[in-house]
Amino acid sequence: MSKPRTIAIDGPAGAGKSTIGALVAERLGHLFLDTGAMYRAIALASTRRGVDPDDADNLAHLARELRIAIGPPTVQDGRAYTVLLDGADVTWAIRAADVDRIVSQIARVPAVREAMVEQQRALALRGRIVMVGRDIGTVVLPDAERKIFLTASAAERARRREEELAARGQARPRQELLAEILRRDELDSRRAVAPLRAASDALVVETDGLTVREALDRVLALIERPVAT
Ligand code: CDP
Repeated sequence: MSKPRTIAIDGPAGAGKSTIGALVAERLGHLFLDTGAMYRAIALASTRRGVDPDDADNLAHLARELRIAIGPPTVQDGRAYTVLLDGADVTWAIRAADVDRIVSQIARVPAVREAMVEQQRALALRGRIVMVGRDIGTVVLPDAERKIFLTASAAERARRREEELAARGQARPRQELLAEILRRDELDSRRAVAPLRAASDALVVETDGLTVREALDRVLALIERPVAT
């Protein structure tokens, strides 16, 4: 069987999309795009420029003007990819707590989404790709050849986020991370445009209690499985 060209992986915060998505892309030799990094880059730019997270007009302007480039790691410091914002490396800056707090507010602005989706689709046209986010299977690439919806309980996702931060030398209380994840889930699921949900033809993978390796094996098995027609 030929490998699927376009693979969409969606799911809530901390479900392991970025980790699993990057590994799937590496395994298949596909391009990898973590669309969350794009919304994070706009959120970062808005805090740096003092744009209010509810100022839709100025956010739309930012989204159209900023140059966001995501590519292979340029530094071997644990990053899965490098993010450039107008040429400057913001790979770690977009992971800051300040960005976590406002990114879902930014991502609900329709004009911001329009600008991002246009860039995401253009990238998908260039070749084989694994794209991860919230709305890839539903809105960005509704014709993706494989759609995976990766999920886990909120408690498990908060635990993973705590571990991930600890590995980078940052300590944040698990309760605080859990509250933030629940708030982001709520905003992402209830927004009017492109809410977080599994596409009707997505294969759902629950990752509670699975190691990264186990979750990866499950996802790869689903991706490589012939589609029933
Ligand atoms: O890494 P984590 O799961 O915490 O989040 P992310 O994938 O980096 O996405 C950050 C935020 O961007 C999400 O909470 C959404 O509000 C937004 N997002 C979105 O709206 N649509 C996407 N395709 C990807 C992210």
